Amino acid sequence: MVIKDLLMEGIKVLELNPSINSQLEVRLILSKIMEVDKSYLYAYTDRSVDVNIANEFIEMVNRRSKGYPLQYLLGVQEFMGMEFLIKEGVLIPRGDTEVLVQYLIDYINKRFVSKEFSILDIGVGSGAISLAIANYCPNGNVFGVDINKEAIDLALENMKRFGLNNVTYYYGDLFSPFIKGKDKFDIIVSNPPYIPTSDRESLQVEVKDFEPETALFGGEDGLDFYRMISKKALDYLKNDSLLAYEVGFNQGKDVKDIMEKCGYESIEVIKDLEERDRVVVGTLKRRE
Ligand SMILES: C[S@@+](CC[C@H](N)C(=O)[O-])C[C@H]1O[C@@H](n2cnc3c(N)ncnc32)[C@H](O)[C@@H]1O
Repeated sequence: MVIKDLLMEGIKVLELNPSINSQLEVRLILSKIMEVDKSYLYAYTDRSVDVNIANEFIEMVNRRSKGYPLQYLLGVQEFMGMEFLIKEGVLIPRGDTEVLVQYLIDYINKRFVSKEFSILDIGVGSGAISLAIANYCPNGNVFGVDINKEAIDLALENMKRFGLNNVTYYYGDLFSPFIKGKDKFDIIVSNPPYIPTSDRESLQVEVKDFEPETALFGGEDGLDFYRMISKKALDYLKNDSLLAYEVGFNQGKDVKDIMEKCGYESIEVIKDLEERDRVVVGTLKRRE
């Protein structure tokens, strides 16, 4: 079969799922399998395709039509201008999270002009937040922890891919790899699991059927991790330090209240371009 006919076959399958951009996605999938640039598929539409490649393409298109995420098929996702390796079992980085990373880069550039600083990322996933900070703020000593071993392995792979050597990752539960009162950071950041368990059924198939549960759900009201991290972080933050979170679109006030109760100050809820709550930050001034 030639390229254009195979693409047409794929489009017919993907069109059954109206949430998919079938014209674009068939080309992304075929160029990935053929290991060619998308432009090759436009230039050589009449070139014949090896039968194994055609079969693999049809198999992938069928999975995609059932909601399997495109990023898991392609194995990559762009985040903050960096191409991250992605695989099933680890959360796909979201554009929403760039609001948090951009806030941190601006904060770091103001506060730590050519000075070293330390930052801990809780729940690193693919390494999106921690590696973007390590890349754009090379004066940082970056640490990360995740309870999912697959996430740590992937984050380490991405770290090598970007050639970064200012990052250390730990496998563990929240602060468990660190020594209370001894290991202290200038910044603690987290994009924790924050979806209320009761919202499970309203999630897109792509998310609820294929992304890891441990990356998604934050208890009955979605706020469990904000409660745990805000409290425990008091033992791991330096004097005059920052705690920064990504939050769900309607969680700004709740997270602000949690942080206030724990003693954080100057708490701000930052909205995204769609005017939805996206980031909450607060500082910790010590009573030392
Ligand atoms: C919403 S994902 C964020 C991933 C990544 N930071 C990003 O923004 O793409 C939450 C991450 O927290 C991790 N996680 C869940 N419970 C945890 C715990 N108790 N300790 C450490 N990490 C945890 C999950 O495995 C997942 O990778």
